[in-house]
Amino acid sequence: THVDWDIDAAEKGGFPDFMLKEIHEEPRTIRDTLAGRMVNGHLQFDELSLNYDELAAIDRVYIIACGTSYHAGLIAKNLIEAWSRIPCEVEVASEFRYRNPIITPSTLVVAVSQSGETADTLAAIRDARIKGAKVFGVTNVVGSPVARESDGVIYIKANKEISVAATKSFLGQVAALTLLAMLLGQLRGGLTTAQIRMLFREMADTAQQIEQILSDTSAIEEAALACKDADNALFIGRGIGSTICYEGALKLKEISYLHAEAYAAGEMKHGPIALLDEGFPVIVVATKSPTYDKVISNIQECKARGALIVALATEGDEEIKKHADYVMYIPKVRDCFSAITASVPLQLFARFIALARGCDVDQPRNLAKSVTVE
Ligand code: AGP
Repeated sequence: THVDWDIDAAEKGGFPDFMLKEIHEEPRTIRDTLAGRMVNGHLQFDELSLNYDELAAIDRVYIIACGTSYHAGLIAKNLIEAWSRIPCEVEVASEFRYRNPIITPSTLVVAVSQSGETADTLAAIRDARIKGAKVFGVTNVVGSPVARESDGVIYIKANKEISVAATKSFLGQVAALTLLAMLLGQLRGGLTTAQIRMLFREMADTAQQIEQILSDTSAIEEAALACKDADNALFIGRGIGSTICYEGALKLKEISYLHAEAYAAGEMKHGPIALLDEGFPVIVVATKSPTYDKVISNIQECKARGALIVALATEGDEEIKKHADYVMYIPKVRDCFSAITASVPLQLFARFIALARGCDVDQPRNLAKSVTVE
């Protein structure tokens, strides 16, 4: 009825679907997740009631999560190891809980869950605590089981996320985990106070950069429409870029039912390149990074097999146009923060394809927002 439509439209804040509304809430998620975390130039985690000596003695980190939250963990692993030099493993909760991982009292387990009620993640938390690990939860839901059952919790402040596809919560998770990586880096002497302040400022700047991306999405739409009728797509990148690819591919599968896989670009020659033929979409994260030149070679290899190249590149990179059929630009950002900004065009890319294929972007078939059973 007319009344229902009004309620519906009001809830979506004038956006056609919750997914788009929630993507537009990403700048705010970044701001809210960072708010109050830097006081007088020092990182603040009051709610963790941290014992800094205990934390400084940590010799292994496990990040445990499912789906998109697992992908946030992959990004965090890079930063934790780079800044603190503490070995960090990321594992899907359903695997972690059924094997016998090496856990000691000096292990830190970080459980990441938007809903805070994912069954496998909760089971992994319980298991880890029985084995004596310290457990931090990273969640969006205050008072959720993950929050209650962890030793400490970091909230991601994304507000309610309704669309089944996680978008703003992913950015909140990456921001929160980056803060944790900075803290570990500081405790281990890998980052100076000055570096922490600089990194914090730059991370805060990503909010405005996302606004810039959202102000004109026409290039993303154009690239998406060129790929909408494909049966398969590959997402490739290196370093942080490869981790974003896993999330880009999941988002596309989940809401458009287009089969997509992600690979570290260096793996192409070890199998996936055999898939390529005329017009096969390959989405390449080719932002400015230490491995940029390698990524360009990977693009050329794919292009030579007739692939349709969609490149995600850094603003100002004109060179990339010679290699790619479509280019989606993001503002220039330090490599460690590119996961935050580069994920936004990939979310929009998936949404444009889903819409073009007539899919319900908020409520994909066979999926539930939280997976509270095994
Ligand atoms: C994300 O788009 C998916 N709907 C799904 O992979 C999700 O991230 C996963 O089920 C984990 O949920 P959680 O973060 O609430 O634990």
